[in-house]
Amino acid sequence: MPVSTEAVLRALSSVVVPDRGKDILRLNLVKGLVVKDDRVVFTILLKDPPASFAENAASLCREAIRKETREEVAVDITVDFEMISLDMHDGGSAKSVQPEGVVNFIAVASGKGGVGKSTVAVNLAGALRQKGYDTGLVDADIYGPSVPLMFGAVDEKPRVNAHRKIMPVERHGVKLLSMGMMVDPQKAVIWRGPMVTNAIRQFLGECAWGDLDYMILDLPPGTGDIQLTIVQSLALTGAVIVSTPQPVALADARKGVAMFENVQAPVLGLVENMAWFTPPELPDKKYYLFGRGGAAALSKELDIPLLAELPIRERLRESGDQGTPIVFAEPESVSAKLFGELADRVVHQVTVRNATQAATQKVEILHKGSAPA
Ligand SMILES: Nc1ncnc2c1ncn2[C@@H]1O[C@H](COP(=O)(O)OP(=O)(O)O)[C@@H](O)[C@H]1O
Ligand SMILES: [Mg+2]
Repeated sequence: MPVSTEAVLRALSSVVVPDRGKDILRLNLVKGLVVKDDRVVFTILLKDPPASFAENAASLCREAIRKETREEVAVDITVDFEMISLDMHDGGSAKSVQPEGVVNFIAVASGKGGVGKSTVAVNLAGALRQKGYDTGLVDADIYGPSVPLMFGAVDEKPRVNAHRKIMPVERHGVKLLSMGMMVDPQKAVIWRGPMVTNAIRQFLGECAWGDLDYMILDLPPGTGDIQLTIVQSLALTGAVIVSTPQPVALADARKGVAMFENVQAPVLGLVENMAWFTPPELPDKKYYLFGRGGAAALSKELDIPLLAELPIRERLRESGDQGTPIVFAEPESVSAKLFGELADRVVHQVTVRNATQAATQKVEILHKGSAPA
């Protein structure tokens, strides 16, 4: 029997880096995975390797794959070391704002406002946390920051730690920061792209995020310059695009997909929000208030996964307004379960993409005056 990628991923998820207490997939150390017939090829890219693990990494992986697949497989593993980039430019490069300890950056975006982007970002972050992932949430929606309201952190002012780094606020185990905690949204509406980008860069580069598996970014709606500058100033792992089934929203979602493709950030999938309404007294009925099946058709056309279809639920809206995301307020509810499934799909997409991508080009050491890479 040919070996499946899934089986290899399962095997690799059991190989834990002792000092970090997390497995090599979760830490995004596996690159260029190719599984074909009875051959498995990949690179383990170590950043900051505990010497003993570097020595054993390949044999631990080989053993895990044998155990999982119970087949005769040819396993070809290269152990490589990522070079540290010493950026000597004045002011630093765009990359230098990326917080060191964050493995994955996921943007939640929409073409149109009011489609439920923040609701999805907040509950996706919550669901990831519930599944044991270290998760942060950045509310980059400078025009309508709603994360503080939805997470019950409206009056929070982030503090600065002894190293003069801004400390994220923590709610239900999720670390969060919002533009709304730092600037008056009334003033921010007239900000230009570079100001927003600088503020975001500060959020990322000057905050004490610690080690995170996922950082979720709630982007401002639309596909203008501001969105573009934000997504270009960090190496996004991928984007989740939220839309309602309405044709106008879908047309804008399509623009969103195009924007991410232009900057080579993979679109992980679409989420259709407000997909239907089921009145509590008519539990078997589905009313498609905003149209039906639009996101499914778009996902097929663009060959992008449909990650979730979320119905309109009064409790979902209320929980947001009351400051406890539904995944925490009512973990057994329909909405919470759907957000849990969304989180599983996002993790799956990210894991497969991270592992099958080519190993990053080794970063050259930049000297003053040389062209940025
Ligand atoms: N599936 C849903 N069912 C009920 N209300 C929803 C749903 N999704 C979003 N809402 C509500 O719609 C409003 C807009 O959602 P929000 O997440 O703030 O959108 P965006 O961030 O795209 O502007 C909020 O009041 C939110 O609670
Ligand atoms: Mg919002």
